[in-house]
Amino acid sequence: MVKVTVCGAAGGIGQPLSLLLKQSELVSHLSLYDIVNTPGVAADLSHINTKSKVTGHVGADQLEEAIKDSDIVVIPAGVPRKPGMTRDDLFKINAGIVRGLATAAAKFAPKAFMCIISNPVNSTVPIVAEVFKKHNVYDPRRIFGVTTLDIVRASTFIGELIGKSPKDVECKVLGGHSGITILPLLSQVPGTDKLSQEQIEKVTNRIQFGGDEVVKAKDGAGSATLSMAFAGARFALNVIEAAVNGTSVTECTYIDLAAADADAVQSVKEATGDDSLTYFSLPVELGPNGVKKAFPIGSLSDYEKTLFTAAGAELKGNIAKGAAFE
Ligand code: NAD
Ligand code: LMR
Repeated sequence: MVKVTVCGAAGGIGQPLSLLLKQSELVSHLSLYDIVNTPGVAADLSHINTKSKVTGHVGADQLEEAIKDSDIVVIPAGVPRKPGMTRDDLFKINAGIVRGLATAAAKFAPKAFMCIISNPVNSTVPIVAEVFKKHNVYDPRRIFGVTTLDIVRASTFIGELIGKSPKDVECKVLGGHSGITILPLLSQVPGTDKLSQEQIEKVTNRIQFGGDEVVKAKDGAGSATLSMAFAGARFALNVIEAAVNGTSVTECTYIDLAAADADAVQSVKEATGDDSLTYFSLPVELGPNGVKKAFPIGSLSDYEKTLFTAAGAELKGNIAKGAAFE
């Protein structure tokens, strides 16, 4: 029995994400929460002939029943960017939204795996962690910043460049989830040794700023929703698969380094030259309790070394801002 709650379920990401989760036989109860429109979305999805029961909950009065005893809570609630905005510009609105949802989860589903999609992820994950600490239910192994869209983009863009099917290209993307904090490790991808330095820098930049590409193309109508739903469903279902069936899956995800193994933490210090970073996206083996093992960064090219050094300051500022949010 797996209860999944999607918070922000009526939104641009929330609806297709819920559709993808509805297709999974791993889910027994799909609980849809939003401040608008979830009764309609739930009625619609409930006609699909898959196993899960679908319930819709709307407004703060129904948050407790929506989230109670969830095994996994996925949060794509909040406002998306418009052209010219950074993800950090969303903090003012989204920080409070995420804190409210995290508070409900800490009270009514303290063991849930928390998958945070709402931006700015570099800061919203520390916000959730602080809420769980305040309620004395914090387990850093169970809280994830969902950075899977960066990995999905990297596979696609690199695959196009080296002439391989994107499905067969696996590129770790570490660090955080905004601009220069997004750190793709092209040098560890077979086939990229044929690329010129110019090609490597161009595709790295495209992965780092892929979100802006979509924001610009949508021209005021929001940011990535469909690709994010795809990526979010992949991540959430892998978390469930590992917890329920014990399947070993490794995904890059933004976590509190308190959940990481000592060699992985050391590799972050060495690569960034900063020993005070407390959150970082690393390759993580998922298990019954969430993070089972976080792997070290591994070898870096000289160019990647410069990217890691450049990312530290911005990431540290984002983390501090989230952790200090009251
Ligand atoms: P959207 O505006 O289409 O949908 C957001 C939904 O959140 C709306 O339905 C809204 O009613 C709901 N909402 C607002 N306040 C709420 C609250 N207090 N409780 C529950 N629901 C609430 O936006 P979107 O395009 O779906 O994007 C959502 C968020 O995801 C944004 O912050 C965006 O930046 C982020 N995002 C993250 C990634 C990533 O890679 N992590 C990728 C894409 C988008
Ligand atoms: C993305 O990477 O597409 C998301 O973080 C949304 C955005 O604001 O770019």
